[in-house]
Amino acid sequence: MAKQDDVFLADEGDAWFKRNRSYLVETTSTKTDYPLALIAQYNLHPKKVLEVGCSNGWRLDAIRRRYDCTCVGIEPSEAAALAGRERFPGLDLRIGLASRLPCPPDESFDLVIVNFVLHWVDRKTLLVSLAEIDRTVADGGYLILGDFLPDWPKRNRYHHRDDVELYTYKLDYAAILQSTALYTNVARITFDHDQHALSGDVGSYERGVCQLLRKSTSEFYQL
Ligand SMILES: C[S@@+](CC[C@H](N)C(=O)[O-])C[C@H]1O[C@@H](n2cnc3c(N)ncnc32)[C@H](O)[C@@H]1O
Repeated sequence: MAKQDDVFLADEGDAWFKRNRSYLVETTSTKTDYPLALIAQYNLHPKKVLEVGCSNGWRLDAIRRRYDCTCVGIEPSEAAALAGRERFPGLDLRIGLASRLPCPPDESFDLVIVNFVLHWVDRKTLLVSLAEIDRTVADGGYLILGDFLPDWPKRNRYHHRDDVELYTYKLDYAAILQSTALYTNVARITFDHDQHALSGDVGSYERGVCQLLRKSTSEFYQL
């Protein structure tokens, strides 16, 4: 296993969950959750949903209640998964990493969500992680990908740990998938990640994106 993935599985996933658990709820106030907004706006009505890096599963539970669908979440933090299993018993929460999804070969989903996870994935396992995610998206299904959207790739030292060298990697991840012609853009929301606000003049490295992609193994080729 790659080092960075190892650290998140061992304890950094737990540390992130403990620092952020009070925010991991669906808010009815001013904050829009962009994945939930895209699902509603594009009338997806999913039947089987996977969220990779789902933390305690709060977003999945909102989807399950709204669309009465089967929801599976995968998360390296054992603390987050255990808290989620207790709080949201209708979810199937599994402990694991994007690079080795604990999903059998024949398990696929009509909607997969990966929101602000890929910038934490070790560069040695980035492509295998994308291949794993792609493996779980059904032909004709949807992928919602949220992350940073810089003008140019950017690596930053992860500031919560100085005992081990960890980085975050800002990159246009959806572009990798779209270049395969397996995915096409349906909708893209860009925003100021730090202010959590739709904003036209946000700096490149603070720009976030939430993108709805549709998968087809045949439709996006010229005939
Ligand atoms: C910034 S949080 C986002 C949580 C959630 N997706 C959301 O939108 O609220 C990133 C999550 O990804 C998880 N994570 C980190 N590395 C991962 C990996 N290699 N594979 C899967 N999940 C990972 C973390 O434990 C954490 O729960």
